[in-house]
Amino acid sequence: MFKFTTPAKLNKAGVIGMNRRNVELIAQNNPRRLYPLVDDKLKTKQVTQGVGIAVPAMIGVVRTQHHVGQLGEFLSDLKGFVIKPSKGSGGKGILVITGRDGEDFVKPSGSCVTLKELQHHVSSTLSGLYSLGGNPDVAMIETLVEFSDVFEGFSYEGVPDVRVILFRGYPVMAMTRLSTRESDGKANLHQGAVGLGIDIATGRSLKAVQHGKPIEHHPDTGRKLSELKVPYWETLLNLTSRCYDVTGLGYLGADIVLDKNLGPLLLELNARPGLAIQIANGMGMRPRLSLIESQRGIERNAEERVAYAMEAFG
Ligand SMILES: Nc1ncnc2c1ncn2[C@@H]1O[C@H](COP(=O)(O)OP(=O)(O)O)[C@@H](O)[C@H]1O
Ligand SMILES: [Mg+2]
Repeated sequence: MFKFTTPAKLNKAGVIGMNRRNVELIAQNNPRRLYPLVDDKLKTKQVTQGVGIAVPAMIGVVRTQHHVGQLGEFLSDLKGFVIKPSKGSGGKGILVITGRDGEDFVKPSGSCVTLKELQHHVSSTLSGLYSLGGNPDVAMIETLVEFSDVFEGFSYEGVPDVRVILFRGYPVMAMTRLSTRESDGKANLHQGAVGLGIDIATGRSLKAVQHGKPIEHHPDTGRKLSELKVPYWETLLNLTSRCYDVTGLGYLGADIVLDKNLGPLLLELNARPGLAIQIANGMGMRPRLSLIESQRGIERNAEERVAYAMEAFG
């Protein structure tokens, strides 16, 4: 284990920093023309679903103010759902609804949202309040993922996700992000979710961090974080690896959720995944990237890449 002290020491420990990520990884592996596919969740869903990658089902898309006016009727039979900006990021503008209380909509925290408030939220989404660069957007309505029982006690009031970093389609590092009281049903780290490193070879947990600091127990449930093992691990990795084939992005973050009934589902793809995953793994990514680099020229399909990574990074 290394200590996070000076940039020089981090570099020596094989930790990739912002500059190196931006210059080497992103610029060299992710052609700009491929960004629109992952920067727009609606497009990502259509393209990945098109090749048989499992995703949460779409309930509807709100594109105009006229649609906003019809929301009450449209949502009347729905209990749980999620509204999200198609071009959002970092959990911004995502409204998770887990049930109804009369006319009102119930959030994971138990607090209620009125139809008027919900419509206001969607109007703001359309006008670009949550989108990249403030551009006009559409609001997606998705089925609520019911997270798998194995996460019971590991996550507070929300769906945990598994982030896998893929380098040229090889899974090189993974973590699960566990929601907390503070993160309001979302698993985004800077909103206060816990990041827990996951062993590529086994799906078992490694180190945990919240707000960049090491922790051992979930801050709200008290559950011991070292006890988590992600089920369907190889299936999950195979699903992420196929996202490389469909996008062509050499450096990619894939966010997966585990549905109780449907198993691993792809939530979103990211062409500029963050670097905190290295802290949650207690190691730098560089040696792994170098190893994959050495495999250049060897043809492998998604399953073969996953098998190689599980062996190499165990
Ligand atoms: N369909 C869903 N069901 C339940 N929770 C969801 C759903 N979609 C998103 N979330 C929660 O919100 C978080 C952020 O969603 P995501 O689609 O990854 O958007 P962002 O780009 O803002 O991170 C997820 O990690 C998850 O915790
Ligand atoms: Mg996300």
